[in-house]
Amino acid sequence: MQKEPKKTGQTFIAQVSPENESIQEPTAQSCGIVIFGATGDLTQRKLIPALFHLFQGWLLPDRWYVLGVGRKKMTHEDFRTSVRKSLDGVSRMGQVPTAVWETFGKRFYYAPLSDIEKPKEYAQLGKDLVELEQVHKTGGNRIFYLATPPGLYSTIVHQLGMAGLSGQGQKRAGDHCKTEQKTKSSPKKKGSVRLIVEKPFGTDLESAQNLNQEIREVFGEEQLYRIDHYLGKEAVQNMLFLRYANAIFEPIWNRRYIDHIQITAAETLGIESRAGYYEEAGALRDMFQNHLLQLLCLVAMEAPSSFESERIRDEKVKVLRSVRPINLEQIDQCAIRGQYGKGLMDGVTVDDYRKEPGVAAHSKTETFAALKLHIDNWRWQGVPFYLRSGKRMAKKSTEIVIVFKEVPHLLFKPMIPGRLESNTLVLSVQPTEGIALTFQAKYPGPKFSVGRVTMDFNYSGAFHSASPDAYERLLVDCMAGDQMLFSRGDWIELSWKLLMPLLNHWKKTPAPCFPNYPSGSFGPKEADELLKRDGRAWRSP
Ligand code: BG6
Repeated sequence: MQKEPKKTGQTFIAQVSPENESIQEPTAQSCGIVIFGATGDLTQRKLIPALFHLFQGWLLPDRWYVLGVGRKKMTHEDFRTSVRKSLDGVSRMGQVPTAVWETFGKRFYYAPLSDIEKPKEYAQLGKDLVELEQVHKTGGNRIFYLATPPGLYSTIVHQLGMAGLSGQGQKRAGDHCKTEQKTKSSPKKKGSVRLIVEKPFGTDLESAQNLNQEIREVFGEEQLYRIDHYLGKEAVQNMLFLRYANAIFEPIWNRRYIDHIQITAAETLGIESRAGYYEEAGALRDMFQNHLLQLLCLVAMEAPSSFESERIRDEKVKVLRSVRPINLEQIDQCAIRGQYGKGLMDGVTVDDYRKEPGVAAHSKTETFAALKLHIDNWRWQGVPFYLRSGKRMAKKSTEIVIVFKEVPHLLFKPMIPGRLESNTLVLSVQPTEGIALTFQAKYPGPKFSVGRVTMDFNYSGAFHSASPDAYERLLVDCMAGDQMLFSRGDWIELSWKLLMPLLNHWKKTPAPCFPNYPSGSFGPKEADELLKRDGRAWRSP
C-alpha cells in the first residue's frame, strides 16, 4: 500500500568552503545611471529600493549617481523627496536613518525632459551628464535605463543616437548608422555606455524585430541589456549550478530517465491597475514569451563550454531553435486558454476579470494559458514540456517539476499492487526558493508498505540569508558589464516567432466560453485534460 508519511522538517546546513565563497563576483564599475521614467511605478517600486539595498550591502561602486529623467517639472530636491518616499516601508532597515539617507540621497539628480522628441533637450542632457561626471568622477561610464512606457523606447534611443550619447559617435539625421561611419564622424567617447530596456520587448515578432533594428542602429548588441526579471531570481540562476556544479544530475537529465517536465507560474494577483496594458497583452505575451520560455531554456539547454554570458546565451538560443512549431491543426491538444471569473481568494469573493476597472465587458483576453511543447533534439525527443501560467490562481507559486520515468520493473508487485509514484525533482522559484526530491521509502515495521518522502532543501534555511530582489542582481550585473542574465536580441525574436502562430490563431478565433475558471482555482478544466489525455497530471504546488 502506498502511504503518505507526515512531512517532517529537515534542515540542510550549507557548507560553503571559503575558496568557493565567491566564484566570480561581478564588480560594478563607477557609473551614472540615467533613468527615463524616473517618476514612474517601476522606478519607485523596484529600481530605487534595489539601488538602496545594493548601497546598504556595499555592492555599489564608490562612485555613482542617478539622473532621473521625466516629463514632470521638478527640482533635484523634489526628486530626492520622492526617492526617499519610495523607500518607506521597503528598506530592510525600516525607516531609513538620516545619516544613511544623507549619503545615499545626495547622489540623486533630476532633469526634466518636457518633449522627448526635441533634440535640444538631449543636448542639454549630454551637458548635464558631463557636469555630473566631473563631480562624481565616474569616468564617463553611463547606463541609460528605459523605464518608460514601451511606446517611447524607439524615440528615446533615436534621440540619444542623434545627440551622440550612445557611445558610438554621433548619429546624423538620415544616417543608416553603420557603426564604422559613426565612428568616423565623431570620436568615440571615454567610458562605457550601456542601455537597459525593460520588458515588454515588442508586442509581436514584427515589432520586436523593428525595435531590435532601431536600437541596433544606435547601440551595439554588446551594449544592450534587455530585462527579464526572472533571470535575476536566485533560484533561477541556481538551476545552472544544480545542473553543472553537480555530477549526479546531468547523466539522468534526458529522455531516458525523464518522463516529462512541468513549468508553472501561478499568481494570486489579478491585473491590479494594469488593464490598459494587460487587455492588449494577455498571459501568453505577458508571461510566456519571456519568463516561461527563459525557464524552459535553462532547464533544457545543453551544457555550455564555459560560464561566459555568450556561451550560455548561445545554448538558450539553440533550445528555442529546437522547439517544435505549435501545431495549429491540433491546437486543443497543445494550447489552452482561460480567463478568470468570480471566485474566492483567501475567503474573500473577487470579481470576474471582465469587471476589473478598464477591462472590456466582453473581453477575450486570456489571463491563463497552458502549452504543451516538444523539443526536437536527441536529449528531449518524446519528452513533453507542459507550461502554464495564470492570474488569480489558488496559490502563488513558480516551480519547475522534473518528473522521472517509472521503475522499469516492479519487483514488489505482490505486496504493493498499485503503481509506484515516479520520482520528482521540484525546483521552486517562489515564494519559497528551494529544491525538493521525492522518492519512495519503506514504511517502518514488519509489513511491506511504501510511502513517498521528500528531501527538501530551502535556501533561506540553508544559507541563513534572504535572497536579493532580482533587480538588485540585474543592476549590478549591468554595472559590471555582464550580459548573462539578460535576453539577447536573437533569443527575443525566436521566442516571438514560436508564439506568433498561436497568438494570431487566438486573435482570429475568440474563445467562446470566457470566463472559464473561477478565481482561486488552478485554471480551466481543459488544462487538466491536456495532461490527463497523456496519462499525467499537474503537480499541485
Ligand atoms: C511581470 C508581468 O513581467 O511579471 C506581471 O508583467 C506578473 O503580470 C509579473 O505579475 C510576475 O512577476 P513575479 O516576480 O511576481 O513572478
